[in-house]
Amino acid sequence: MHNISWWRTEFGEEEVQRVSDSIFNENISQGAVTEEFEGLIAEALDVPFVVATTSGTAALLMALMALGVQRDDEVIIPNRTWIATAHAALILGAKVVLVDVLPDIPIVDVSQLKQKITSKTKAIIPVQLGGRSVNMEEVWKVAKEYGLFVVEDAAQALFVKNSKGYLGTYSDAGCFSLSVAKLISTGQGGFVVTRNKETYERLKRIRTHGVDSVIDVTYTQMGFNFRYTDIQASIGIEQLKRVPNRISHIKAVYEKYKAGISGILFLKLIPVDVTQGEIPLYVEVLCKRRKALIDFLSSHGVQTRPFYPDLNLAGYLESTEDFPNSKVFGEEGLFLPCGPNQPLRNIERVIEFLDIFGKEGK
Ligand SMILES: Cc1ncc(COP(=O)(O)O)c(C=O)c1O
Repeated sequence: MHNISWWRTEFGEEEVQRVSDSIFNENISQGAVTEEFEGLIAEALDVPFVVATTSGTAALLMALMALGVQRDDEVIIPNRTWIATAHAALILGAKVVLVDVLPDIPIVDVSQLKQKITSKTKAIIPVQLGGRSVNMEEVWKVAKEYGLFVVEDAAQALFVKNSKGYLGTYSDAGCFSLSVAKLISTGQGGFVVTRNKETYERLKRIRTHGVDSVIDVTYTQMGFNFRYTDIQASIGIEQLKRVPNRISHIKAVYEKYKAGISGILFLKLIPVDVTQGEIPLYVEVLCKRRKALIDFLSSHGVQTRPFYPDLNLAGYLESTEDFPNSKVFGEEGLFLPCGPNQPLRNIERVIEFLDIFGKEGK
């Protein structure tokens, strides 16, 4: 049991009350409360169309389906992301084509995109990892030149801005997650945003087995049951109200670590550019002695989390290339305790333990 967990978030009385109201009002499955939640997100992100669904993974899958990605198409994905990004393409029978990330930050190296494009390429999925912003102008330029769709995986980047506006809102589709370790959560959940009305209509149909209505049924296209629930949306509506405080708090957490570990030589903070509108959802570091550090902190009640392995290590993606930049992140990356409800005194404790680890030369 850890005294300090790697992620701390909060669900309070307000969420409990709204869920309770929703149940008493018989708003259980997808209905009026989901629509209200979608409307609030649309307003907050300044985007016309939002389709809520069961997870960020489902959001990615629905977006790729809506844009017509199918068997034998190729989809370009960075080698550093949660494997969900790849699985969304793979489950449609598409081939995942991996591309390396930048040397200093784990987001796609856009200068390597063109060399990955073939006549089968259908879409690019830039991943806005850890609330960082990919150079979208460059991605859109390449996509336009080759006639490709851009689906942003903004699962970790809700309310992150670049010079144009909120991430995820200016591509063919943007996909977000509402799982627990995100800015806001509804337990599980996710949503797709788009500015394209046709894509929106297709997404809504795909969410309900390809039909416009379950009463007056016409089979129009392949879909699935990707429906959200009003119970989850009730939590989401209250979580949205917490966003401004949460953003301030996670920035404070990040700044505290930044100051606290600047003199700790065995750790390198992976930067987030807060001045440009990025949001440091997580506090991520590189440590060559990662395993020893994880064990040391754990023995003092501090939970950390190593980065997920690079995607090319999933044999079934059949990648034969080397990805030297992402390899460093995959082998040395670590999440330090953080999150919208992580007490700042916990950060101070963690920094003390990091100091001790350094001094003891573990
Ligand atoms: C980058 C990224 N993409 C996709 C997903 C999938 O979201 P979900 O877990 O809601 O299915 C996640 C979730 O952690 C993620 O971090």
